[in-house]
Parts: sequence; C-alpha cells; structure tokens
Amino acid sequence: MKSRPKHDFSAIDRILLDEETIQRRVTELAARISADYAGANEDGLVLVGVLKGAFIFLADLARRLTVPHHVDFIALSSYNRGAVSTGAVRLIMDTRIPVTGRHVLIVEDIVDTGYTLEYLIRNFRARGTASLRTCVLLSKPERRKVDVPIDYLGFEIPDVWVVGYGLDFADLFRTLPYIAGLKREVYEK
Ligand code: PRP
Repeated sequence: MKSRPKHDFSAIDRILLDEETIQRRVTELAARISADYAGANEDGLVLVGVLKGAFIFLADLARRLTVPHHVDFIALSSYNRGAVSTGAVRLIMDTRIPVTGRHVLIVEDIVDTGYTLEYLIRNFRARGTASLRTCVLLSKPERRKVDVPIDYLGFEIPDVWVVGYGLDFADLFRTLPYIAGLKREVYEK
C-alpha cells in the first residue's frame, strides 16, 4: 500500500475544536433534528450535503439520525473566492433525488460570507420543497456579507482559516478528526 501524503502540521496554529467536542455537538444536533422531523414519513427528509467540505459532517450527522432520511449532494463553485468574494456562485453538480414536495435539510460545513447558503436557499425554494432548513457546523459571524438563516448550528468561530473535519486548505487537511486554525502567514502570504 502506498504511504499516505503527510500533512504539514507546521501550518497549524492551534486546535479550535477537538474531536470529542465536535462529536458531542454532532450528537446533539442529530437528536434535535430527529425530534423535529419525527413526523416526516418515509419519503420525508432529504439531507443535501454541500461538497466537498460537508462530507464528513454529513456522514457523522446522518448516522445518528433516528428518522428515515435520504442522502444527496450538491457541488458549487464560486468565483474569486478568497480575500475578495464577489458572491457569484455556480452550480457544478446538482442533486439526483427530486426534491419538490420533500423536506430538505441543507448540510454545510461552514458559513463565511453567506453567499453560498443564500444561493442554495434561493435555488431550493424555487424547486417547491415541502420545507427547507439549514444545518451548519461552523459560522464565522464577523465575515458575514448577507444574512442567512441557520436552523441548526454547531459552533460560532472567530475569523481564522480553519481546516479539518472536512475543511481544507488547498484541498489538504480535510481528514483531520479535529478543527484547527492555520497560522495567518500560511494563508495571507
Ligand atoms: C466553503 C464551504 C461553503 C462556502 C462558505 O466551500 O464549504 O460552501 O465555502 O463560504 P461563503 O459563506 O463565503 O459562501 P469551498 O468553496 O471552500 O469549497 P469546498 O467545500 O469544496 O472546500
């Protein structure tokens, strides 16, 4: 077997949320969601994970739900993401499950400016879902440009670049079991 690529841990400044803290919160969110959707029938709840960042959060969350649910994904890309965001979001892979008349829960790893979630909410509303809610692991309120509703929130975090538990820097660090902040010089250079 090939050896796995090594993360450059010298880029990490500190751990913001350790594995146990994340797992405890995911369990709490899953319990709340399960209670809120207890009435939904077999066809009811559709979880829509936003690739790539949400894949680990969605996997952990979904496995703790006690209500029937379907899992689907959507992929987006945004122009000029980085220091200056224009807010222009483009759909690059759509869901496969038809969502009209279904209860949709959008699952995101992080809300930063809010442009991505705003786009998703507008997009799914137009499809005529039975209901539409959002579940977000991390929110950076200091960075918000547009107000977006978050129905289930894991944690508010400060304005630092975070990696781990699905989140990346140059597509690395996604599989760390904790969430860490990078050293500012790593992402501001
Ligand atoms: C991240 C994250 C959200 C979005 C949030 O995705 O997963 O989808 O940015 O930012 P916003 O609130 O400013 O719109 P990213 O483009 O980094 O892609 P990835 O999930 O594939 O890493």
